[in-house]
Amino acid sequence: MEYKIAIMPGDGIGKEISEGAVSVIKKIGKKYNHEFNINYADIGGVAIDNHGTPLPKETIEICKDSDGIILGAVGGPKWDHLKGEDRPEKGLLNIRKELGLYTNLRPAIVYEPLKNASPLKTEIIGEGLDICIVRELTGGIYFGEKGVREDGTAYDILSYNAEEIKRIAIKGFETAMKRDKKVTSVDKSNVLESSRLWRKTVIEISKDYPEVELNHMYVDNAAMQLLINPTQFDVILTMNMFGDILSDEASMITGSIGMLPSASIGEKYGLYEPIHGSAPDIAGQDIANPIATILSAAMMFKYSMGLVEEGVAIEKAVEKVLNDGMRTKDIYTDSTKLVGTKEMVSSIVENI
Ligand code: IPM
Ligand code: MG
Repeated sequence: MEYKIAIMPGDGIGKEISEGAVSVIKKIGKKYNHEFNINYADIGGVAIDNHGTPLPKETIEICKDSDGIILGAVGGPKWDHLKGEDRPEKGLLNIRKELGLYTNLRPAIVYEPLKNASPLKTEIIGEGLDICIVRELTGGIYFGEKGVREDGTAYDILSYNAEEIKRIAIKGFETAMKRDKKVTSVDKSNVLESSRLWRKTVIEISKDYPEVELNHMYVDNAAMQLLINPTQFDVILTMNMFGDILSDEASMITGSIGMLPSASIGEKYGLYEPIHGSAPDIAGQDIANPIATILSAAMMFKYSMGLVEEGVAIEKAVEKVLNDGMRTKDIYTDSTKLVGTKEMVSSIVENI
């Protein structure tokens, strides 16, 4: 079969890690006899430099014309002086909105050979950790009205309507049905009106999923529970900003933010990216961990292209190199083998 894949490397380590994903995609093409036509597009800081905007029109077109989309990361000190609409991050936020990617799946899995890399005691991680954060991605405070008033007061409005909550809640419950059938809905309904609507709507949707156990947690408590009892969670369903924060926290429990992929999905398109950022401090040094982006490609094969076997082959290859003791700097511990970005990629490719 023939497929079109859009690659948006973005900034910082984005280039190195997305090249890793491209090598893996090419190997899958060879092994399974698919033709992958890869189209590169600029987003973020590099797009500002080349096109004067963080999200050029041609980037949107390339994405809309693809079967799957991979993004590296955006942002860096070079563009930190820019404001609002001109910032690199706006490229990412706008492509999410433009493609209607309202569901963000962020799995946090502790890989057995990486148990020691977790900052939490092994007793706390227990038999292992496998959480999926289902984050609303195109609403809430990220997309509400914002501005600075004449007196200098700055504001960002947080609002959700029932429709926006319903559709993400459905994704949360659907995700749970394929897993351990437990949803923890995270909100701040003791303080926020939008959270009260969130909770009410989630309860309504839960009636269609009687097999799924639903509980509710305030976000501050959820942040704490992730540290003291992370294995209680299966699916964490939450709004845009809480999901942003909790997914960084959950990822670190697994040992490294460099390990975790994510899928941003709408009715029509799917965009896959590591959950980490552009890490400008380590860019170009061949030390970044490419695994999150490579696993994002695996998610793309499974969710957007229906190539489940191919996705699983990538995940197995990643497990194999980890079992073989290969580690990039972020996950390195005594008695493992320190490798650079390129060597990690080539070992994964070899193992597919
Ligand atoms: C993420 C990032 C983005 C977000 C930034 C770069 C806009 O932190 O994908 O988690 O806040 O959504
Ligand atoms: Mg984030």
